[in-house]
Amino acid sequence: MSSKITAAITAVGGYVPEYRLTNAELEKMVDTNDEWIRTRTGITERRILKGKDLGTSDMVVPAVQEILDKRKISAEEIDCLIVGTVTPDTIFPSTANIACYKLGAVNAWGFDLAAACSGFLYALTTGAALIESGRYKKVIVAGGDKMSAIVDYSDRTTCIIFGDGAGAVLLEPNTEGYGVLDSILRSDGAGGHHLHMKAGGSLKPASIETVTNKEHYIYQEGQPVFKHAVRDMADVSYELMQRNQLGADDIAWLVPHQANKRIIDATANRMGLPHEKVMLNIQKFGNTTAGTIPLCLWEWQDQLKKGDKIVLAAFGGGFTWGSTLIKWGC
Ligand code: UT7
Repeated sequence: MSSKITAAITAVGGYVPEYRLTNAELEKMVDTNDEWIRTRTGITERRILKGKDLGTSDMVVPAVQEILDKRKISAEEIDCLIVGTVTPDTIFPSTANIACYKLGAVNAWGFDLAAACSGFLYALTTGAALIESGRYKKVIVAGGDKMSAIVDYSDRTTCIIFGDGAGAVLLEPNTEGYGVLDSILRSDGAGGHHLHMKAGGSLKPASIETVTNKEHYIYQEGQPVFKHAVRDMADVSYELMQRNQLGADDIAWLVPHQANKRIIDATANRMGLPHEKVMLNIQKFGNTTAGTIPLCLWEWQDQLKKGDKIVLAAFGGGFTWGSTLIKWGC
């Protein structure tokens, strides 16, 4: 027991919508085929949030509610909710604000954090710092995106990749060394033009022209993003291993952002990790942006053992990227 407070992950929740958008269905929408999608990305299907008046908060809320139910705690006990997302319900109020209202988390404050596919890692590091400060006892960090809201379903280069979903973790103070141990987070705005949304912000507000020009959808130049992702996600994960004196045998799991199976394989190879130690659910959920990492933890939670050293790694729009080391504490 030490006096140092760490932020332990004490519960995980997740939510994916029911509707499955298969490769076969996409074949009817754009000029693509199942084989191309599977071999280039590893994706077979993705979930889509269908229905009127449903936004990202409608996936964050059930993910958080699962945590509350599991831990038998009430929404009033939540101190803070941070939501990593680039598809907030509205630009303001924040999705965190809306979700807290829907959950009845009347004592919580919170905010959205926009770091694209690295949103969950940025939010996790931020949430952990709130716990480590000693001022907060229950911080929920969620990551979720309704990517279908910003995908152009006539663009075959992007519509095959993305899906909808959200996951969340509860962070609580720990004095036995469990939880978030280290994080290396990076950003480089020079990569912004390779992956972004062209309009809808203060720089280029929505207008008839921006809608006509399809500027409210994801714009991605796949190849440069791929090249940076392969190099940077692996580099930062390797650096994290080195500075914590960890060999491949010391790491129980790699939890990579699920953007492309080939990027995941490259990161695992660089870290010297066999496939059995790599969480992979891209085949059924696609790329849910800030949702991918917590959704992996959600799916694998029963296989995780107390004390497991786990590396989380992400790369996304911004560019943003990073790697976080946790010691499993549930
Ligand atoms: O999570 C956020 C970060 N994002 C990423 O990490 C994504 C990184 N990038 C990628 O994952 C890949 O670049 C993609 C999956 C987006 C594309 O794969 P690629 O191997 O880089 O393909 P490409 O863009 O080089 O395209 C190869 C060919 C092209 O045809 P030509 O020019 O060789 O005739 C494309 O037009 O494949 C064509 N193509 C398709 N064909 C069938 C592009 N999209 C499709 C498609 N179906 N959906």
